[in-house]
Amino acid sequence: MIEKTLVLLKPDAVERNLIGHILVEYERNGLSVLELKLMKASSTLAEQHYIEHKGKPFFDRLVAYLTRSPLVALVLEGENAISRVRALNGTTDPADSQDNTIRALYGKSMSENTVHASDSTESAEREREIWFG
Ligand code: PPS
Repeated sequence: MIEKTLVLLKPDAVERNLIGHILVEYERNGLSVLELKLMKASSTLAEQHYIEHKGKPFFDRLVAYLTRSPLVALVLEGENAISRVRALNGTTDPADSQDNTIRALYGKSMSENTVHASDSTESAEREREIWFG
């Protein structure tokens, strides 16, 4: 099934000049970039994006991280893109991520894990609407 998914290269990825290194991982795995923009997220946008985590102890840290400097938002398309991009990204905690996943290669910590990707068809649709309208 051909799917679209929303991906964020979070501020630490942009700060460390990792945009190209990360995009090549997606592209050489057969995923195509449909939309892409460099932008600084507002708190409102970040809170909307992470609304399901509102109330969790790490929520404020998450919003501060996403808004501290520019990030890259993109939409990737490909066969089973939602699960494939999640697999390429690796687990939330880079320390537990499988070798050669993006978080194992580039993630700094649980709270600076470099990339985000939608986890379901519903969240992909919701997140694409938030970031690209
Ligand atoms: S949960 O609570 O199981 O739903 O969490 P999870 O789906 O793994 O993560 C949701 C997003 O919150 C980030 N996260 C954290 N940030 C800072 N500190 C801690 N402890 C923490 N735990 C989880 C995690 O990176 C997820 O963000 P995204 O952008 O979706 O990867």
